[in-house]
Amino acid sequence: MSATEPGFGIYLHWPFCAAKCPYCDFNSHVRHDPPDQARWARALTAAIAHDAALVPGRTVTSVFLGGGTPSLMAPTTVGAVIDAIAGHWRLASDVEITLEANPSSVEAERFRGYRAAGVNRVSLGVQALNDADLKSLGRLHNVEEALKAIGLARATFPRLSFDLIYARPKQTVEAWTAELRHALDFAADHLSVYQLTIEEGTRFADLHRLGKLITPDEDTAADLYEATRGLLEAAGMPAYEVSNHAVPGAECRHNLVYWRYGEYVGIGPGAHGRLVLGDGRHATADEKVPERWLQRVETQGHGRIVDDLLTLDEQGDEYLLMGLRLAEGLDLARFETISGRALDPSRLADLTGHGLVETTPDGRLRATPAGFAILDAIVADLAA
Ligand SMILES: C[S@@+](CC[C@H](N)C(=O)[O-])C[C@H]1O[C@@H](n2cnc3c(N)ncnc32)[C@H](O)[C@@H]1O
Ligand code: SF4
Repeated sequence: MSATEPGFGIYLHWPFCAAKCPYCDFNSHVRHDPPDQARWARALTAAIAHDAALVPGRTVTSVFLGGGTPSLMAPTTVGAVIDAIAGHWRLASDVEITLEANPSSVEAERFRGYRAAGVNRVSLGVQALNDADLKSLGRLHNVEEALKAIGLARATFPRLSFDLIYARPKQTVEAWTAELRHALDFAADHLSVYQLTIEEGTRFADLHRLGKLITPDEDTAADLYEATRGLLEAAGMPAYEVSNHAVPGAECRHNLVYWRYGEYVGIGPGAHGRLVLGDGRHATADEKVPERWLQRVETQGHGRIVDDLLTLDEQGDEYLLMGLRLAEGLDLARFETISGRALDPSRLADLTGHGLVETTPDGRLRATPAGFAILDAIVADLAA
């Protein structure tokens, strides 16, 4: 695979969590009765078989078990889905198999089982290294448990990343920098650092509207973002994407499939995919509600409710949106192949003149540091 080849990934969504975090709008659900693991394993493997027939003959470069909380899956369920994937497609010799985990002690007990099932990378939702903030984020773990889970994950899996959320209420640049330095003492070679977003429909959105949750103002948020980039870059983990930092070579291959606009299968409640079929690139989505998804798979063999053929303009816009998130930017020749058009030269010249984007000698377009701060506006300007 060449250096910027997108690869072929499989995303599997596990839609259950032990509790709903007040900031989260992911497709995650809390159920009184634990899900029937054997029934879910059967449904997931049936849905995998369905998609394998649509896109046969590919070599899988990454698998990502995301959620929700996939560390609530039984290791046997994880084993069943990995075996099903390996049974239908060829796995690349260096296939990356990531599982998202929450750092509670119960879940950490399953780490060895996941490793035995084939998982070789874990992404832990640490979120904060400060007990008061973990509590206000509604997390079920404290700092001590998070650090223990990190230690255990590092001892069990070849690769580890963890997630942190910044721009929390009342957070100062000094406090965040100290917390991030502490995190660096425990980090392996990858960190995802997200700015807290107030998502519609969440408890945080209600509190925010009532003035009971006050997030840092725009200037402080920009300072927090700059401080994050500077500190992690100095520590040898530059941002390779807006929120993702890695030692060069340790980037998450699965996420690169999305941002390099590769092909990926999305299976499980609410999962999205992009499949290249005979007539072009399709955008797919599965039924969101877990019980309905299960029923659909059991009656029709798959949980798909959306399967749209994308126009060339739509594909170009998607590649633009994804590719400009990456520090490496996007390949202009590939953009033309995908979209059937060139980017508007006058708009490009304008953005370049304002120091927001730059074109590299090898034909890539990327955002400058100033451009990253207003990425949405740049994409909107260049889109069809
Ligand atoms: C699907 S969740 C992940 C995993 C796992 N369930 C957990 O919470 O530990 C992926 C990540 O998105 C981030 N995230 C979720 N909602 C967010 C929000 N509103 N603002 C910023 N980051 C958010 C969190 O860092 C979270 O770990
Ligand atoms: S942040 Fe993670 S644990 Fe919390 S509700 Fe969302 S998916 Fe579940």
